[in-house]
Amino acid sequence: MLFFDRIKSLEAILATAEKKSLHRSLGPFQLTLLGIGAVIGTGIFVLTAEAAQKAGPSMILSFCIAGFVCAVAALCYSELASMVPVAGSAYTYTYAVVGELMAWMVGWALILEYAVGASAVAVGWSNHAVGLLHGLGVNFPAAVSNADALMAKVQMALGATPNPDLLTAAHTGGWINVPAVAISAAVTWLLVIGTTESARVNAVLVLIKIAALTLFIALTIPVMHAENFTPFLPTGAAGTFGAAASIFFAYVGFDAVSTAAEEVRNPQRNVPIGLIGCLAICTVFYLLVAAGAIGAIGGQPLMQGGVSLVPGSPEMAGRCVQVVASGALEPLVCSREALVHVLQTIGWPALGRLVGLAAVLALPSVVLMMMFGQTRVFFTMARDGLLPDKLASVHPRYRTPHVVTVVTGVGAMVAAAVLPVGRLADYSNSGTLFAFLMVAVSVMVLRRTDPGRKRPFRTPAVWIIAPMAIIGCLVLYFSLPLTAILVLPVWGGLGLLVYFLYSRKHSHVGRGLIEGNAEDQPPVPGV
Ligand code: ALA
Repeated sequence: MLFFDRIKSLEAILATAEKKSLHRSLGPFQLTLLGIGAVIGTGIFVLTAEAAQKAGPSMILSFCIAGFVCAVAALCYSELASMVPVAGSAYTYTYAVVGELMAWMVGWALILEYAVGASAVAVGWSNHAVGLLHGLGVNFPAAVSNADALMAKVQMALGATPNPDLLTAAHTGGWINVPAVAISAAVTWLLVIGTTESARVNAVLVLIKIAALTLFIALTIPVMHAENFTPFLPTGAAGTFGAAASIFFAYVGFDAVSTAAEEVRNPQRNVPIGLIGCLAICTVFYLLVAAGAIGAIGGQPLMQGGVSLVPGSPEMAGRCVQVVASGALEPLVCSREALVHVLQTIGWPALGRLVGLAAVLALPSVVLMMMFGQTRVFFTMARDGLLPDKLASVHPRYRTPHVVTVVTGVGAMVAAAVLPVGRLADYSNSGTLFAFLMVAVSVMVLRRTDPGRKRPFRTPAVWIIAPMAIIGCLVLYFSLPLTAILVLPVWGGLGLLVYFLYSRKHSHVGRGLIEGNAEDQPPVPGV
């Protein structure tokens, strides 16, 4: 019984949490703000263009599908978060319910969610920073502002027939994304010296993001043209689901609300209000933004031989360069800063730049939340003995887990340097979907194995909601591009190797050691 042999007892986990005994101070409003602060980011500001390339106008439905899957997953998350209110999120829940091996796999998958997700947001920030500088008359060299040429060269070296699109990307694209590396490095440094975002800073950033999206909606909705919505499904249902799987990234981060569960007053009422409130507000904004963007300038995909080009691919980058060189307006699907581009196209260049400025100001805090989440998971895994102790060491002066933070930061920098944003988001999604699925499984298992335990929040209609979350995660996972689907098993295989070569022997639960003390941990940001 490899799967169920090592379960970390809930008592041990809760005893650890008791020692922390954080003050219950958060109400539904602060919780919703915390969620929105972590959620609105690169997904809506940048990936809207990629979603249009995959689904055309039906990306509006894609936003609904992804939002629905997140809502049912969030309800499952809430039950475990309120019962097991300690660090480590899905990793800890799975350890307590299904066992060590699965927990390890979830923790390993969370690296994709958080570290790769952080690099995706960093690339989104880079796009806006480069655009803002351009607006100010400073042209950041193309060679160091993206990695399109590098991707094209790699593809050609791997034997792809050099087509004109590839050659164009290889000649006009960049080699490395320096601004994305810089912002990842800056956030890593902030985390090492112990900067966590205060509730007040978070509230200001949420206001800035909401104001930017509201401005966008107010300017685009009045100039919508009905004909921009036809054909509505240019790539069929597969395209709509493909876009939903990618745009799922725009909702990731709401788990920040669950992980703050132990600091919430009356969690039974407030955690679901915070989670669902945050998701509902984001969904409404996303739908209006998507409709405004498509309605104002159209969003039909670029096709080749009847198939839409893959967003983020060198072929797509090359084709976009050709379209613009031909004198045509840059299509939505080509834009690296979708919302800014729409406003500039409909005659509001200065306000477009203002929206770009909002992204430049607010996205670093999303990078921070994601990297912080990653260090928390690494830290908890190291404290459980599954990763080397050295990783769990806390800096003597800053009291932060500096080693895991730097490891996470370097990983995110490398990914952000060489990969396009859409691909990073898809890889991140494959890990997140696996983690969400395991959370839904854990909720049902725990209802059977430990029905009497106190549940400050109970998932309503769990036997309907949890299976819906599982099916939703599976559908989105299999709608991802093939490489992103393959990332999970390949990454998981690597994880299994590490587990059997190192972690299984060193596990504290396996060696019968007593739980560590959670008081060593840095606080949750934004709280
Ligand atoms: N949901 C976050 C974003 O879109 C991760 O940037």
